[in-house]
Amino acid sequence: MERKKVFINKIIPELGLRLLDEAGIDYTVWKEKPVLDRDQAILFCKGHDAFISAGQSGLDADFFKQCSHLKVVALHSVGFDGVDISAATAQGVPIGNTPNVLNRATAETALLLMLTVARKALFLHKKIQKGEWAISQPTQDLGVDIAGKTLGIVGLGRIGTELARMCAKSWGMKIIYHNRSQNEEAEQELGAKLVSFEELLAQSDIISVHTALTEETKGMFGYEQFKKMKSSAIFVNTARGGVHREEELIRALNENVIWGAGLDVTNPEPMNPDNPLLEMENAVVFPHIGSSTFETRNEMARCAAENIIAGLKGERLPYPVNPEVFGK
Ligand code: DGY
Repeated sequence: MERKKVFINKIIPELGLRLLDEAGIDYTVWKEKPVLDRDQAILFCKGHDAFISAGQSGLDADFFKQCSHLKVVALHSVGFDGVDISAATAQGVPIGNTPNVLNRATAETALLLMLTVARKALFLHKKIQKGEWAISQPTQDLGVDIAGKTLGIVGLGRIGTELARMCAKSWGMKIIYHNRSQNEEAEQELGAKLVSFEELLAQSDIISVHTALTEETKGMFGYEQFKKMKSSAIFVNTARGGVHREEELIRALNENVIWGAGLDVTNPEPMNPDNPLLEMENAVVFPHIGSSTFETRNEMARCAAENIIAGLKGERLPYPVNPEVFGK
């Protein structure tokens, strides 16, 4: 029987490749920089039966029209906002993702941002580099505690709940959240309270964003919303850069409308190196490292390989994004 072939657009952890080998599947890995553009990715996909996409841009209706032969597309991510899922379904292409395995690492990234901003840690690190080791006055460069404060979570799903758990259990924080639907489990386990968006803005000491990027959530944090937050509040986004309006966040930070902001996601990515946020005392930016630990990336590669193996056998994917495709 002819061996099936997968195209992989970036270098994924060895574990994923080993699972493909063991399943008798061949693969081509694109190892070069720069990353492939959409048309190049389409050309490669045309010569393969399946595709592992690590953040490939342009997976739109035309992509799926041109690549309707693909038996499966396995995303090396949990998010799928850059993929036209209904177009994939219409062309009969199953899409898989990597849910759950990155909850902990992403929640830890949010926590790291919260603490770094709260204690001005990056700003003080930069001061040492400039020869200014100067906490000479007991009132100088003080941070704020996070223990016992109110954490407002926008999107209390799997990652948000992981963060809420850490913050409630280790830091005694009060959890409020804003969601489309009630999260009864989190309410029972953590005493989390569902509030309106306006209440969340007004009551939170720290706001952490964990919602998907949709038409509804796009730009939901702008100057008007920052103005409604406490002046001591910290804004953290580890979800998608499109949820906040960057220019308006910069204005709010410059005017000390809020205490500070920690971002693991920006719009666009990569962020321009001369972006003012990178020089601001009250802002911390990471280059989208939410899932980037050895352990988590291994698990993501495992999920992607398992999705490919199932898809190439014509079976239902273990981690499907468009399960409705199997009924077609
Ligand atoms: C995801 O998996 O969607 C993350 O944002 C990638 O790090």
